[in-house]
Amino acid sequence: MYISVAIDGPAGAGKSTIANIIADRFKLMYINTGSMYRAVTLMSMRNNINFSNVREVCRLTNSLEMHFENDNLIVNGEDITDEIRSLEVSNNVSNYATIPEVRSILVKLQQNMAYKYNVIMDGRDIGTVVLKDAPLKFFLTARAEERAKRRCKEFEEKGIYVEYNNVLNDIIKRDYIDTHRENNPLCKATDAIEIDSSKLSISEVVDVISNYINEYIKENN
Ligand code: DC
Repeated sequence: MYISVAIDGPAGAGKSTIANIIADRFKLMYINTGSMYRAVTLMSMRNNINFSNVREVCRLTNSLEMHFENDNLIVNGEDITDEIRSLEVSNNVSNYATIPEVRSILVKLQQNMAYKYNVIMDGRDIGTVVLKDAPLKFFLTARAEERAKRRCKEFEEKGIYVEYNNVLNDIIKRDYIDTHRENNPLCKATDAIEIDSSKLSISEVVDVISNYINEYIKENN
């Protein structure tokens, strides 16, 4: 049986942590689409291509061979998993992710991945655009303050000190850009199940989603 699971939600809602665990549990390929927008941002910044130079950003995007190896993103043979998580990339990624031409290149790549494998894919437009027909869609949210706290902890665990207020402001700014952009803004698909993770532990969220997937498997076997 073919399975595709879509998880959308704002930055820091816990999408990637949850998606990783679900991927392991149900033997799905995990595709973190935010990483792909981050990859375009990192590579553009390395090549001094400003987001306003749409033609060059698109040329570069088309030249990138991207694939996932477990949770790692390999671009043109280089593992860029850690570098795309830097604050510099985080602060710039919305500008590149807003470019409609970049979105359409990456959406096609993501859809091709989903044709070939059983996937769990997370992002902002998965349930509404990329996997519109996915039978299992979730919209994961949490309060901005809670998400900022989680992001700070992630940085701390990597030995990087960041100012809470900077992280919170970045999250608020990104939420605004993600939900207000003209092209494929972040919004809940009408048929997505909304889960507010502010007061739930990771394993509680994983259990809620797993129950839906198990039910789907039972009904479709
Ligand atoms: O999930 P993340 O924080 O790694 O995402 C990085 C950026 O990419 C974020 O600003 C929103 C954008 N994004 C998007 O526009 N569409 C997606 N499907 C995934 C991420």
